[in-house]
Amino acid sequence: MPRGARDPLPSGDEARLLTRYEDVRRALSDPRLSREGATGSDAARITDDDSDIFNSPMACTLNAVGHERWRRMLSRWFTAKRVQALRPAMERTADRLLDEMPDHGHPADLVSHLAFPLPVFVICAMLGVPEADRDSFKGWSDTFPSMAKYSRDEVTTAHREFEEYMAALVADKRAAVSAGKAAEGEEDLLSLLITATDAEGRPLSGEALTATGQALLLAGHETTAGFITVMAAHLLSDRRRRQRLLDDRSLARQAVEEMLRFDPSGGFGMIRYVHEDVELGGTVAPRGTTVVCSMSAANRDEDAFDRAAELDVTRSPNPHLAFGAGPHSCLGQALARTEMQAVLDVLLRRLPTLELAVNGAELRQVDGLLTSPPAALPVRW
Ligand code: HEM
Repeated sequence: MPRGARDPLPSGDEARLLTRYEDVRRALSDPRLSREGATGSDAARITDDDSDIFNSPMACTLNAVGHERWRRMLSRWFTAKRVQALRPAMERTADRLLDEMPDHGHPADLVSHLAFPLPVFVICAMLGVPEADRDSFKGWSDTFPSMAKYSRDEVTTAHREFEEYMAALVADKRAAVSAGKAAEGEEDLLSLLITATDAEGRPLSGEALTATGQALLLAGHETTAGFITVMAAHLLSDRRRRQRLLDDRSLARQAVEEMLRFDPSGGFGMIRYVHEDVELGGTVAPRGTTVVCSMSAANRDEDAFDRAAELDVTRSPNPHLAFGAGPHSCLGQALARTEMQAVLDVLLRRLPTLELAVNGAELRQVDGLLTSPPAALPVRW
């Protein structure tokens, strides 16, 4: 593909497609391009549909807070150290989910019984959602991205119910904090954010806290579930790879990074709007251009990665772009990495009792592992 090829969008408009590692990294980090800019401008539109997530009330609330301010207030709760403290609970949850799997019949589906619920439970634990409400969270999260599985009305209803739930949870937490009750070991993100202030001493409003809870589930669930699925598929479908990791468990971190790099199902890519003429992919992109940054393609660029088409669990360094780059790079990347490492550890520990119930090639062809995470991963033990 030529650098900066034209890319037709679902709306019929055209965008500039970037596929080279260096072009994608630079575009995502360049302040002359930003995520904002579609509304009211001449920029190409992604779809004809106004209901996309970046124009939702949740996104508008967060935009009003100011991206930099919001990100600075949140980022102190997403450090590697804080996230590492959640790891034992992640491993316990993964173990419990695998223990419960036989109750669901034989063979069991690793997606619905591990990859899908685990990241929801982790986000719930982080936000301080009571145990009893976690299945509702799972249900809402299942509905959000499912254009094919649910009707537009069902998706809208799920968004409304979820927003109402989050607003009530924030109000409960605020009451607990005011009454001094949150002190009993309640270290959840919402309780902490209620009392947090920015550099000017301003706290986040109730609406902003509600929108934050929504944004974290939307940004952090499907992505992590998809990558856990792909990782488990890569692990269970190749005996030599599995043996390599069993022989040297210290490779787990590198293996996770490589699965993140290697996955070709990064979707459409990240959208950016050009606000000032800028050279991109060898030509000038005039102001108003819509750019699609394909991280999946960039992660397979031979100029950036030796043997880029090969999954090498020992690859190091591995500066992949699965979490994006620049000011919007993934806020939850330490959480996602730790979750994947915890699951990999648990899977390796339990491997003697776990194997794919379909062969790897079949899985790839039937479920499209090459283009998107498999919808199901049948396993037996
Ligand atoms: C393997 C799993 C994940 C992947 C591959 C992933 C990927 C990404 C990417 C590529 C972006 C950049 C979006 C852009 O440039 O427009 C992003 C942003 C973001 N991610 Fe993740 N993500 C993952 C998990 C998570 C988790 C677990 C959370 C939190 C619970 C999270 C929270 C966020 C947030 C809040 C943003 C927006 C950051 C900003 O705009 O400043 N992500 N993620």
